[in-house]
Amino acid sequence: MNSAAILDTLERASEACADPAPLVYERLFAAYPHLESLFVMDRDGGVRGSMLETCLNIILGLLDGSETSRFLISAGRMQHEGYGVPNGEFDVMFAAIRDTFRELSGPDWTREAETAWADLLSEIASIK
Ligand code: HEM
Repeated sequence: MNSAAILDTLERASEACADPAPLVYERLFAAYPHLESLFVMDRDGGVRGSMLETCLNIILGLLDGSETSRFLISAGRMQHEGYGVPNGEFDVMFAAIRDTFRELSGPDWTREAETAWADLLSEIASIK
């Protein structure tokens, strides 16, 4: 996987937008409206912010080949079944992050970035 290309997109996204959380969740709920109701208790957005941060840390770990990131994905799949998120929908959060970052990068989003993110999402999907 082209880790440098992914890191580049993370940097560009943080330069373009200090807090991408609202954009990521707007996109997630637009594509999967039934997921929004799972967050009704999260009145101040704290859980959503922390969940996104965890996802980003997991991504950074995967770029470094971290076993902890792989474990957190497996554990998260099981934990989220309990929250009412079927395993097949767990991964759409990572796709929403990629799509938001692609939008924030605008014309700076490269073919290498597209391929690197596709590889990353495949790797995440393969971790059961
Ligand atoms: C569409 C996909 C997802 C949905 C709908 C979802 C939904 C939720 C919900 C409803 C909670 C709050 C549970 C509660 O407090 O009762 C939560 C918490 C959490 N989620 Fe997700 N989740 C998704 C994907 C992910 C992914 C991919 C990760 C990272 C591997 C993740 C990490 C976390 C963490 C760490 C928390 C606890 C946050 C905190 O309370 O500080 N989630 N998630």
